[in-house]
Amino acid sequence: MPVAPSATDALLSVRDLRVAFGALEVVRGLSFDVHPREVLALVGESGAGKSLTARALLGMLPRGTTTSGSVRLRDEPGSYAELMGATRPTLAALRGRRIALVPQDALSALSPVHPVGDQLAAAVRSVTGLSRSQARARAVAALDRVGIPDAASKARAYPHEYSGGMRQRAVIAMATINEPDVVVADEPTTALDAELQDQVLRVLGEQREAVGAALVLVTHDLGVVRDHTDRVLVMYAGRQVEQGPTHRVLDRPRAPYTAGLLASLPPADGEDGPAGGPHRRGGSGRRRRLPAIPGSPPAPDALPPGCAFAPRCPLAEDRCHREEPGPWTVGDGHEVSCHRWDEVPYPATELFLERPA
Ligand SMILES: Nc1ncnc2c1ncn2[C@@H]1O[C@H](COP(=O)(O)OP(=O)(O)OP(=O)(O)O)[C@@H](O)[C@H]1O
Ligand code: SF4
Ligand SMILES: [Mg+2]
Repeated sequence: MPVAPSATDALLSVRDLRVAFGALEVVRGLSFDVHPREVLALVGESGAGKSLTARALLGMLPRGTTTSGSVRLRDEPGSYAELMGATRPTLAALRGRRIALVPQDALSALSPVHPVGDQLAAAVRSVTGLSRSQARARAVAALDRVGIPDAASKARAYPHEYSGGMRQRAVIAMATINEPDVVVADEPTTALDAELQDQVLRVLGEQREAVGAALVLVTHDLGVVRDHTDRVLVMYAGRQVEQGPTHRVLDRPRAPYTAGLLASLPPADGEDGPAGGPHRRGGSGRRRRLPAIPGSPPAPDALPPGCAFAPRCPLAEDRCHREEPGPWTVGDGHEVSCHRWDEVPYPATELFLERPA
């Protein structure tokens, strides 16, 4: 059944989002909704189009890109603002206040010539009538909340005086300081150790609880997806391969590509294998997990015909090389783009385990 997701009560509703560099389409028709308090993960290997998708949601794409589709942000129940094609002033008025980005490159979000606290205070004053000292106090509190030690004095420091991890957290403070409805965070925890990762995810979670915000979280880390997200959208070569409730997608993936990502996961402590496939067997004649999916994703200018994953897929058959699959709805809120989704075994990671000779 073709997918026609409904936008009712979503905070952010995206339909057929496409991003191209000239004739090269790199995001190819994504549709998804994000509801209040929901955390949606965007996952996929490097080059899948996650960052361009994240930036397209705020109209913050690099020069030379063209976009189409629809990105609608809820104004009030039942009423939406269309961001696709919106004017610069309209987008500028919404950014930070209604929808905010934590970019993958944290440094690019901070000006090198102003102290970090001043930048946060200026962001506060741009949308509130707070005095300088009130805005400053809010800036210090925001830095403290993301775990910047000695936030009052660090607020007076410049970005270059921050470590990489601190800069990343300062950018998260900046993105959340005006309590936007939607936070789009592009790999916000990549440079952080486990403890700081947890802290940052907790801050983003508090934002959700405090104002009913939704979070779009780009990550490579399926452990983070499992522990911190409600839904997951798996991307490959600019397209959706699978989308659904996190537990469904990770426990019973229906796309071979999702299974491959899970198969490359190290087992959690005390487990015999990853989600979707508890299989690690030692000794001769037994099977072992591959370090990753064999091969690498195609470049945008060298997409194979049909299913882009076919050259790497253990289930590929003739039609996969001819016809682009789906997406089809296969369960409650669960969509898959695979011709053979109902033949994906359980546990799905079986597909990526080496067979004995
Ligand atoms: N400025 C650009 N000019 C041309 N192609 C680009 C540009 N930026 C990105 N691309 C291409 O668009 C595709 C998607 O890029 P994107 O940065 O969204 O990937 P990603 O999924 O975020 O990867 P990563 O996990 O490495 O951050 C890639 O194939 C990339 O080469
Ligand atoms: S459509 Fe075919 S090639 Fe693509 S993921 Fe499914 S089985 Fe594999
Ligand atoms: Mg990226």
